Amino acid sequence: MNFAPYTQAEHFFGHNTPHRLAEEFGTPLYVYNEQILRQRCRELLNLSDHPGFGVNYSVKANANLTLLKIIKEEGLVVDAMSPGELYLDTLAGYTPDEILYISNNNTPDEMINALAQNLLVSVDSLDQLDLLGQLATGGRVMVRFNPGIGQGHSEKVITAGKKTKFGILPEDLPKVLDLVKKYDLTLAGVNQHIGSLFMEPTGYVSAAKVLLDLCATLPKNILANLTVIDFGGGFGIPYHKHDGEARLDMQALGHSLTELIKDWSAAYNYTGRFLVEPGRYVVAESSVLLGQVCATKFNGLTHFTGTDLGFNVLMRPVLYDSYHEIEVYPRVEPSGEPFPQTITGNICESGDILARDRLLPPLTRGDFVVVLDTGAYGFSMASTYNQRQRPAEVLINTDGQAKLIRRRESLTDLTACFNNLE
Ligand code: LLP
Repeated sequence: MNFAPYTQAEHFFGHNTPHRLAEEFGTPLYVYNEQILRQRCRELLNLSDHPGFGVNYSVKANANLTLLKIIKEEGLVVDAMSPGELYLDTLAGYTPDEILYISNNNTPDEMINALAQNLLVSVDSLDQLDLLGQLATGGRVMVRFNPGIGQGHSEKVITAGKKTKFGILPEDLPKVLDLVKKYDLTLAGVNQHIGSLFMEPTGYVSAAKVLLDLCATLPKNILANLTVIDFGGGFGIPYHKHDGEARLDMQALGHSLTELIKDWSAAYNYTGRFLVEPGRYVVAESSVLLGQVCATKFNGLTHFTGTDLGFNVLMRPVLYDSYHEIEVYPRVEPSGEPFPQTITGNICESGDILARDRLLPPLTRGDFVVVLDTGAYGFSMASTYNQRQRPAEVLINTDGQAKLIRRRESLTDLTACFNNLE
């Protein structure tokens, strides 16, 4: 049996093997594939041929500088939700007109920082709109609305509807307009984000229509100044690859979206931009996480395959019960039939479980484990819990060669912020 069907079919590792990569760069290791990353960028850009259509990559999914530069080369623009993301966007070469500041609960200092860099700043509460008005009277603003339709793979990532903290309710539009007038602001953009991970287009397109219907109610003089309408992200990827889970139908999504925005633009004489704002779709499938088996044990009930992939390295399974396919690269031909194994990491918590009851061949210390689809919210959510340093990142470029794009953290990185080392 082939226990690495996806990575092998994709030639994911180029001219390398997991074994060679582990030898050269160590484990845990995030391995990225440039070809797949570029391919996903192109699929997104091809969603619509409408002249104002664009793709705004949501940097929170992965902010590695090398990847940001590739994404820029492909023609995507970016968001920033914090001073840190803004800093990295700028280092990657994005200019203020290519960055939307889409954040929430900003301190005055954070908002001043974004405004000082001439960014269009999205506010998602009347209170933050008031703050922006005070800080940038006479300036521009973008407003995030809550369309009431939420979608996501976990309640923790549904970002619209009345249960969530995000966005301004459509019924508060008159209050928005009052503040816009009070501070002599130009409402230059509107945005929304309904949540993370949908696998079929209907909800997203319906929510886009809600936002457009709302824009249609804007007074004519306000609508005339609107230059950006951003429908948000959430585009899902098939995490159940071994079961042949269907992909999101990008053609159907693109078709519905294009019809909607073309008709609306014609009806309201709108010549500005329409953005989608995916994070996961851009980067998730371009990366796998490589680790090694450190110990196996049977505790009378469960067979544990212990690895160096703790939840400090990949948090999604523990935080959201997320499913990631596991592939394995044993060093020698496994002896014996596959059997259910629970894959754990090396963190001191019993919840440190990467995957449960996966049918895998007998594994022994030093065999390699590969976790699929880790490019989005993998490294970006990694931590140094248990004082384990964050891993290195390697890119397999389009020639199949491996290049280090972030070094592994060192022990002195752990102490870099202490001031009492002597
Ligand atoms: N725009 C805004 C305003 C967002 O808050 C997000 C994600 C996105 C765009 C991009 O969403 P995407 O296309 O990646 O679904 N850590 C979670 C996902 C959290 C998403 C947070 N916001 C996970 O690992 O599934």
